[in-house]
Amino acid sequence: MSDLKTIRGMPDLYGENIEAISMVEEICLKTFKNFNYKEFRTPVLENKSLFERSVGESSDIMQKEVYEFKDRKDELLCLRPEGTAGLVRALLTNGLDDDEIKKFFYLGPMFRYERPQKGRKRQFFQAGVELIGDQSSDADIEIILIANTILEQLSIKSKLQLNYLGDQKSLQKYNEYLKEYLSETSDLPEYVMKNPIRALDSKDKVIKQKMSQAKSIINFLGSDQTEEFNKIKSKLNKLGIEFEENPNLVRGLDYYNGLVFEFLSDDLGAQNAILGGGRYNGLIKNLGGRDLPATGFALGIDRLADIIELPSIEKDLFIGCLDKESRTYAQELGYKIRKNNNSLIVENYLGNANPGKQLKKADSQGFKFAIIVGQDELKSKILKLKNLREDKPDLELKEKDLLEHFEC
Ligand code: HAM
Repeated sequence: MSDLKTIRGMPDLYGENIEAISMVEEICLKTFKNFNYKEFRTPVLENKSLFERSVGESSDIMQKEVYEFKDRKDELLCLRPEGTAGLVRALLTNGLDDDEIKKFFYLGPMFRYERPQKGRKRQFFQAGVELIGDQSSDADIEIILIANTILEQLSIKSKLQLNYLGDQKSLQKYNEYLKEYLSETSDLPEYVMKNPIRALDSKDKVIKQKMSQAKSIINFLGSDQTEEFNKIKSKLNKLGIEFEENPNLVRGLDYYNGLVFEFLSDDLGAQNAILGGGRYNGLIKNLGGRDLPATGFALGIDRLADIIELPSIEKDLFIGCLDKESRTYAQELGYKIRKNNNSLIVENYLGNANPGKQLKKADSQGFKFAIIVGQDELKSKILKLKNLREDKPDLELKEKDLLEHFEC
């Protein structure tokens, strides 16, 4: 039966799990729309070279986490490990890299061949935004506000960490400094040799120890960059958004510069990053487009779903039945009630349990009201509405009055 197994790290989603995921998605969609962001959907498959040129060859993602394969025409494709590169590719493909400021959101599955554990899957879902064409700190603030709004609406306690990576020049200077600084450390892993800044978030004990004495990137920023970082911090203070600075925060993708940030949660164990993002000025140009500034973030829908509390949903009406004929009538009744008021949750019971068991089911599933339709109800068209939540007498209602009762 091994062909019937799910692929490791790609679980089927059902029950409370998918309810929590849907709830996170709903809050994300609502918030993105509140900020007037427009949806963008790109394919899950892209050319692998797109990610080599954006996420970066020295990143963990490209080194060991990409699902790649050749198609029937020998094109090297991969399942997207993240959403930013595909969106930038789509801007160029569709001639959307003009001067107009653009605000997009996306939502969908991403794929990384990582070791599965709590909060880490091989197929996971991200929701993200990309703000293209604005260099100002207000753009950085806007995306942090979106992130903060989503987390607040989901009642998630988290910590915001910031770092400022400067521009490509200061990053290069810092990388040169680190190369020199680390030159006497033996057995440096290849990813640090290729991109020394990755030493900052290395888990390797020797590198960690050495890096604890290294200068931080803040020392390599130009005065305008320090001013820009200060502006962002004072705006956040004014908005009452708490944060801490983390000079080791580099993020695992090579396209970042300027402000980078992560929201962390204490409720997730080792995989504590629930949302991450930052500026990626230069990426659009590097991929062959115009030199446009850009910033954005993505959040891990599965990670948020793991830590939210699902509210108990009150359902409206359970319509039970006693035989085949009354079941058909019950179905018509349910259809009319939902048609009159499409915000109601109405169940048409299709099984054969006795009326007592049907009412128990209705109660345990969280229904406020129940009706059981039998031959008497079918003939008289008078229905007994039971209140399952309050200790009130049953209401005897004609069909027309029942429909009115559930109209608003
Ligand atoms: P990222 O930090 O690689 O950034 O991923 C964003 C979020 O996706 C993480 O904070 C985490 O919650 C979730 N995530 C990542 N890997 C996994 C996994 N294996 N299992 C479950 N959840 C995971 C990006 O992807 C950037 N594209 C974000 C961005 C957008 N930067 C600018 N614009």
